[in-house]
Amino acid sequence: MRITVVGTGYVGLVSGTCFANSGNTVTCLDINVEKIARLNRGEIPIYEPGLEELVVRSVKARRLLFSTDTASAISTAQVVFLAVGTPPSADGSADLSSLWKVVDAIAPHLDPEAVVVTKSTVPVGTCAGIETRLKARTGRECRVASNPEFLKEGAAIHDFQKPDRVVVGVRSAEVAEILRSLYLPFLRTEHPFLVMSPESSEMTKYVANSLLATKISFINEVANLCERMEADIDDVRRGIGHDKRIGFAFLFPGVGYGGSCFPKDVQALTAMARDHGVVPRILEAVHETNLAQKQVLGEKIVAHFGGQLAGRRIAVWGLAFKPRTDDVRDAPSLDLLEQLLAGGAQVTVYDPEAMENVRAIHGDRLTYAVGPMEALDGADCLAIVTEWGDFRHPDFHDMARRMRSPTIFDGRNLYAPAEMRSRGFEYHSIGREAAV
Ligand SMILES: NC(=O)c1ccc[n+]([C@@H]2O[C@H](COP(=O)([O-])OP(=O)(O)OC[C@H]3O[C@@H](n4cnc5c(N)ncnc54)[C@H](O)[C@@H]3O)[C@@H](O)[C@H]2O)c1
Repeated sequence: MRITVVGTGYVGLVSGTCFANSGNTVTCLDINVEKIARLNRGEIPIYEPGLEELVVRSVKARRLLFSTDTASAISTAQVVFLAVGTPPSADGSADLSSLWKVVDAIAPHLDPEAVVVTKSTVPVGTCAGIETRLKARTGRECRVASNPEFLKEGAAIHDFQKPDRVVVGVRSAEVAEILRSLYLPFLRTEHPFLVMSPESSEMTKYVANSLLATKISFINEVANLCERMEADIDDVRRGIGHDKRIGFAFLFPGVGYGGSCFPKDVQALTAMARDHGVVPRILEAVHETNLAQKQVLGEKIVAHFGGQLAGRRIAVWGLAFKPRTDDVRDAPSLDLLEQLLAGGAQVTVYDPEAMENVRAIHGDRLTYAVGPMEALDGADCLAIVTEWGDFRHPDFHDMARRMRSPTIFDGRNLYAPAEMRSRGFEYHSIGREAAV
């Protein structure tokens, strides 16, 4: 099939590459001239494990192209995926301005038989809005479908090629069949292809992300309570997780959820609820709890230093909003850095992949270490924000030797408190012993 993916970001580039790798001819279209030029030079603009190899292979096979030319990329496409960003507006609702610009730009070039598919996360009713807009621009009925994307950054290739399920929202069986044949190579392990209305499909994406965010905020709230009541959230987590009705997924306490999806999708669903007269009590609490949780590690550090951060040297391990990505959008690390810098601390950071994205925000307000150990030299404490595998088994002896004071604030509960005590560290974590 000839496919064009509009928007060559984390979702568009991964989707386009995986579709190309399964035998389709794919053009990834973007307005970012520099990004497309880099891709055409063979440079991958994001860090995503396994992506580069697939891009190189597909480009070599001439099945994957990168372009800024809307007319030629759209006129030959049988399926056009929309994968542009849908960030939050000031009131929390999804900002669809990029999406509408794309719809207007592609309308004059669309083949009458082409199917336009929203892969961007969009509010319920957007598909219907695109149908209306395309009809007004082209003078004919256009085929529009919803196909929300559930991939996780850091495991995006795996998630795309082996999805738990594929959801499509369509108005005709014919369009469902086109999408089913496109996804068939990824559904060989009998994972379901779920066909529903565009409205249900659009809603499914928001509900999935909001429920996962709810689990995280719930366990974070309970962790904070455990800490004050001499209970240990790790034990409690195990105690509940073995209950098959509950399970373990997304019940790890930490420094709050971040990234470009959960925060904005919870807010967008909240806005939809308000617009339709449903009081979004749970969704609002999930968001508020998360905002507060992003402050928790910084508050512990400030309290430890008696409210005085000025002149303190603080090392931070982990900047990406989660491991195996370079994405720092809405990352909890950004909140912590603001707290530390506002207090006058000297902050040295290390992340295996996200340093350049943080440098673009903070420039020389931070010191960027060449490695995790180097970040610790002369530090009064270490804050751990992202659970990269690199941090799980460090040389504790070397750490203690390099630090001015062997004190750790672990926002991801990577280590066992008793072991840290025996290694001579003062160790603070989330929802476990108050301090050891
Ligand atoms: N990132 C994820 O993990 C993830 C997962 C599932 C769903 N989503 C959803 O997918 C959508 C895209 O997310 P992303 O993280 O890939 O965004 P992104 O910001 O990484 O990429 C968006 C791309 O769209 C391009 N773009 C913007 N306006 C354009 C236009 N008029 N024409 C062509 N290109 C244009 C940008 O230049 C950018 O390259 C969002 O709705 C998001 O909620 C994201």
